[in-house]
Amino acid sequence: MTTALITGANKGIGYEIAAGLGALGWRVGVGARDDRRREEAVEKLRADGADAFGVPLDVTDDESVAAAAASLDRLDVLVNNAGITGDTPQDPSTIDLDILRTVLETNVFGVIRTTNAMLPLLRRSEHPRIVTVSSGVGSLTRQSAGQAGPIAIGYSPSKTYLNAVTLQYVRELEGTNIKINLACPGYVATDLNGHQGHRTTQQGAATPIRLATLPDDGPTGGFFEDAGEVPW
Ligand SMILES: NC(=O)c1ccc[n+]([C@@H]2O[C@H](COP(=O)([O-])OP(=O)(O)OC[C@H]3O[C@@H](n4cnc5c(N)ncnc54)[C@H](OP(=O)(O)O)[C@@H]3O)[C@@H](O)[C@H]2O)c1
Repeated sequence: MTTALITGANKGIGYEIAAGLGALGWRVGVGARDDRRREEAVEKLRADGADAFGVPLDVTDDESVAAAAASLDRLDVLVNNAGITGDTPQDPSTIDLDILRTVLETNVFGVIRTTNAMLPLLRRSEHPRIVTVSSGVGSLTRQSAGQAGPIAIGYSPSKTYLNAVTLQYVRELEGTNIKINLACPGYVATDLNGHQGHRTTQQGAATPIRLATLPDDGPTGGFFEDAGEVPW
C-alpha cells in the first residue's frame, strides 16, 4: 500500500492529484487547512472509491506541519501542491513588500517546512517520491522571453525560488532513493486564476501524478510539463 500526502488537496489541481492517486488504490492524505473544506473533499474522494483521509495542514504554520507529520505512520509520496498567487497589483515598482513576504511564506518556505517535516517518514519508504508543483512562469528562460504570463513580482519569482530550492534538495538527497521533481500543470482553470485557465484540473494533475508514480529508474531533479522538460 502506497501512502501519499498532497498539500492543498481540498480543491483545484491538488484535489485532482488526490483523486488520481486514489484511483490507483493508494491511500491519499488530503492536506488542507480548513476543517470543513478538508472533510468535504475527503467525503467526495471516498464516495468515488478512494482510500482518503484528512490531514489538517497549514503549510505556513510550524505547529500545524509538525502535527501533520506526527499524525502519519508512513509516507511514500509527498506532493507539495499548496500555493497562492498573492494580492495584486504585483508591479515591481509599486510592490507592497508584505505581499512578497506572504507569497514566499506559502510558496517557498511552506514547501521547505513541509518537506523537512516529512523527510524522516519518506526516508523509511522503499520508493519515496517528492513532487513539487511549480509553474512555467517560474522559468527564467520563459521570463526573459516574455513567455511567462503577466508581470507578477510576487508569484513568478516565488516559483523560480522554489525551483532553485528544490535543486538544493536534489543535491543533498543524491545517493538516496528519494526522487524529487518539479511539475508545471499548465494554465488550469481554478480559483487561483479566477478560472481563466484553458486546461482542466484533470489535465493539470497529469504531470504531478506521473512524477508521483515514477519507477525506480525514473528521473530526479527535473522540471516537467506534459510536453516534456521545462527550461530552467
Ligand atoms: N492553476 C494554474 O493555472 C496553475 C499554473 C501553474 C502552477 N499552478 C500551481 O498549482 C498549485 C495548485 O494551484 P491551483 O490552481 O489548484 O489553485 P487553487 O484551486 O487555488 O488551490 C490552491 C490550494 O492550496 C491551498 N493552500 C493555500 N495556502 C495554503 C496553506 N497556507 N496551507 C495549506 N494549503 C494552502 C488552498 O487551500 P484553501 O482552499 O484553504 O485556500 C487550495 O487547496 C499551486 O502551487 C499553483 O501555484 C497552478
